[in-house]
Amino acid sequence: YGTQKINEKGHLAIGGTDAVDLAKEYGTPLFVYDIQLFRDRARAFKKTFEDAGIGYQVAYASKAFSSIAIYQVAAQENLSLDVVSGGELYTALQAGFPKEKIHFHGNNKSEEELRMAFKEEIGCIVVDNFYEISQLKKLSEELARPMNILLRVTPGIEAHTHDYITTGQEDSKFGFDLNNGQADLAFKETHEHQFLNLLGLHCHIGSQIFDTAAFSMAAEKLVGKMAQWREETGYTCPVLNLGGGFGIRYTAEDEPLEPSVYVKDMISTVKETAAVQDYPLPEIWIEPGRSLVGDAGTTLYTIGSMKEVPGTRKYAAVDGGMSDNIRPALYGAKYSSLIANKAEAAATEQYTIAGKCCESGDKLIEQADLPLAEAGDILAVFCTGAYGYSMASNYNRLARPAVVFAENGNHQLVVKRETLEDLVKQDMSYALQEQKG
Ligand code: LLP
Repeated sequence: YGTQKINEKGHLAIGGTDAVDLAKEYGTPLFVYDIQLFRDRARAFKKTFEDAGIGYQVAYASKAFSSIAIYQVAAQENLSLDVVSGGELYTALQAGFPKEKIHFHGNNKSEEELRMAFKEEIGCIVVDNFYEISQLKKLSEELARPMNILLRVTPGIEAHTHDYITTGQEDSKFGFDLNNGQADLAFKETHEHQFLNLLGLHCHIGSQIFDTAAFSMAAEKLVGKMAQWREETGYTCPVLNLGGGFGIRYTAEDEPLEPSVYVKDMISTVKETAAVQDYPLPEIWIEPGRSLVGDAGTTLYTIGSMKEVPGTRKYAAVDGGMSDNIRPALYGAKYSSLIANKAEAAATEQYTIAGKCCESGDKLIEQADLPLAEAGDILAVFCTGAYGYSMASNYNRLARPAVVFAENGNHQLVVKRETLEDLVKQDMSYALQEQKG
């Protein structure tokens, strides 16, 4: 999973560095990103578009993992960036990310967030609803500033891990419904506005998707809609954004496709549909999050207490848990693991990997096949790079872990571990009132 390698000491190596040494130097729990892998994934997506000679943007969906350092790497790789809040936008600006390549998402952007987008002259806003349209009109007129926009639509296709369903009218909090006239109305309200520059349509049909069919159906529907508008009004939308959602391999059960396969299929569907509809070939934009950072990230924990429930199971507890990875508790997500300091040892035992939070559901892995474990071992949980740190919390007042980037045998701290002082930083004392009576 990811790029696990074993070095001459029999230890897990990440990005050419010894995971056991990293755990010693930076402490645990620790997120370690193999940055070369992030670069490889980004380049694979981009190369497929380039080989096809089609206009494109690959935007890193940074909700998967947002930090100044990853934004800097994304910029180096010439990616665009998908942000979903003033906080992500602010982080991107702090990282010096090229503003014109930032795309702003969200179903309830505040006026403050929208003002920030105008002021910073970001690349585009992905418009979600009619309230946002009215806000954008008001603000752009008040500021007399232009803004590129995409309309987010729900095409009535929902992709789940292994399959997809089509529903007549999708029940989703996101976007304009493509099938009941909402999208047409949004088009009518925006395409002639003096400051809003309508680039095209956007959809995101799901996450951790393993096949290409749902993307193709969505592409066909969206190009069809843009062709219909062109016929009715003469207005051509030059961009089609098909979102993210490309699956990765968390365990042997997962069978994702190569990034290039998803993209090739998209390109051929868009080309075919455009040809049939006599529509000028649009640029294709995508927004991968998980497939860029997911398997690049590994979490290192230290094993502490162990417990055996005779005849049932053995627990091994680690020094983190649902506070740094909520996905098993929230989605029943599965992970694979290894003992980093015993990477070559045969797996003879089965453990339930428990976290240290005060909650029975705080289990990271139900059945981990591992060699005999003991306190002090370093457990590596793979593919935690997406929606791990970004969904971490201070539940039980646990400090959020540090994050390290490893590449070509070098390693560097990019997010500091929280301290006890950090945990009370926002707290204020209560000026106690005299109790009467
Ligand atoms: N674009 C939009 C509009 C999205 O809503 C998302 C993810 C993405 C792109 C990136 O999707 P990805 O390529 O990462 O699958 N917390 C959940 C995943 C939530 C996904 C939300 N939207 C998890 O841990 O599985």
